[in-house]
Amino acid sequence: MGFLRIEREGAVAILTLDRPSKLNALNTAMLEELLEAVDAIDADREVRATIVTGAGEKAFAAGADIEAMAEMTAPQAKDFSEYGHHLGAAIEQSRVPFIAAVNGLALGGGCELALACDFIYASEQAKLGQPEINLGILPGFGGTQRVTRRVGVGRARELCMTGEIVSAAEALRIGLVDAVVAHADLMNKARATATTIASKAPLAIAALKRAILRGQDVPLPTANEIETTAFAMLFGTHDQREGMRAFLEKRAPKFEGR
Ligand code: COA
Repeated sequence: MGFLRIEREGAVAILTLDRPSKLNALNTAMLEELLEAVDAIDADREVRATIVTGAGEKAFAAGADIEAMAEMTAPQAKDFSEYGHHLGAAIEQSRVPFIAAVNGLALGGGCELALACDFIYASEQAKLGQPEINLGILPGFGGTQRVTRRVGVGRARELCMTGEIVSAAEALRIGLVDAVVAHADLMNKARATATTIASKAPLAIAALKRAILRGQDVPLPTANEIETTAFAMLFGTHDQREGMRAFLEKRAPKFEGR
């Protein structure tokens, strides 16, 4: 039986981590299913936004699977960590925006999975943290780096060194999540944003996503060049001509992804 539910609602794909009896803890099979799903989404030009969420009332994902990790040798742990990184990179590098809809606990690998998404909406019931330190390890799916880029060095150190689990409100305050909504409204909020993004020009969305990602790791002048190149590349596309013509003709554009 699979651990991932994949649904389509028009141009929006919804991935639901589906192992509620273990609080959607991420084992290797689940990582493989996720990676396969991300690759399929990336290849399907009909999909223009993706939501990632967790099944059940309690968790988005309560971390990497501790039972599986308990028996790992160092080389196996390296493979496991690299697989998690591979998944995070696939999400970040996908042409499709990913929205994490954090419906409950997002701990360890769960928090790291959410952080690999383009932005994070959290339910009021969500709780987030990197408690790996309590297991005698450290975050292995990108947490030391993505938490730091998100909330700054000091707070990242504090979160990862104490293993503290923070409320949705505190996560919002420190910038770990991007919005907090009533639990019952979480999926509708994610759907509404996903549908808005899906209505935009797909090539521009993909170029925008890439420019923001690539620009984070290079000096500002280089980052600005990345933007200029991306900006110029969109000229001559059908959607650029259509978008501007529609504005001038005072009508809604019809974007086609070309
Ligand atoms: N890996 C493997 N199994 C996990 C898990 C994880 N990260 N998190 C929860 N589970 C399992 C539990 O072992 C339990 O399984 P069981 O019913 O077969 O015993 C089931 O999910 C329910 O969890 P439980 O601990 O009973 O729920 P709770 O509400 O009492 O506690 C937590 C919730 C999140 C506080 C607790 O599950 C926890 O501390 N989990 C680990 C968090 C963590 O360290 N994550 C980082 C891992 S890198």
